Amino acid sequence: MAEKIRVMLSEEEVDAKIKEIGEQISRDYAGKQVHLVCVLKGGSFFMCELAKRITVPVSLDFMSVSSYGSETKSSGVVKIVKDLDEPLKGKDVIVIEDIVDSGRTLSYLMEMLKDRGPASLRLCTLLDKPDRRVVDVHVDYTGFQIPDEFVVGYGLDYDQKYRNLPYIGVVELNA
Ligand code: IMP
Ligand code: MG
Repeated sequence: MAEKIRVMLSEEEVDAKIKEIGEQISRDYAGKQVHLVCVLKGGSFFMCELAKRITVPVSLDFMSVSSYGSETKSSGVVKIVKDLDEPLKGKDVIVIEDIVDSGRTLSYLMEMLKDRGPASLRLCTLLDKPDRRVVDVHVDYTGFQIPDEFVVGYGLDYDQKYRNLPYIGVVELNA
């Protein structure tokens, strides 16, 4: 099927916003070290660019989750496919996500990570689709609020494609 990608947020807009968030985090965590937790695979591009813009000491870890039931609108229980390498105890943790959509994945994940005893726990997402929210999630840092359209690029995929686009685009089928 022919697909066309319409640009929603240009590379320049995304880069400028990531720089802004990096500066904000550097101010908020002055004198501390931040521990960034990347939710794979989508969060990886955002986390790398963001980490480069943070001026306080940074450590990184990665986890991979798959959600049950987002299709069936059931529990929203998340299965850990790859867990973190390091404990979170006593760390100032920021979870880095590509997008908060229904909120199911993140609300479950944040509760689970809170139980591991971090000194603090915040959530940072590049994109937020508030119109799609089913479960309440508190987001501390948001890049862009976007309308309810399926987007790709900057880590986000359509059938595992387009993660590597340096901008955020909308997939248009049969275009
Ligand atoms: P939710 O907030 O639990 O519904 O799940 C969010 C996850 O769904 C994200 O981490 C993405 O993997 C995926 N997702 C949601 N909206 C989009 C989109 O527009 N494009 C690509 N993936 C999306
Ligand atoms: Mg994701």
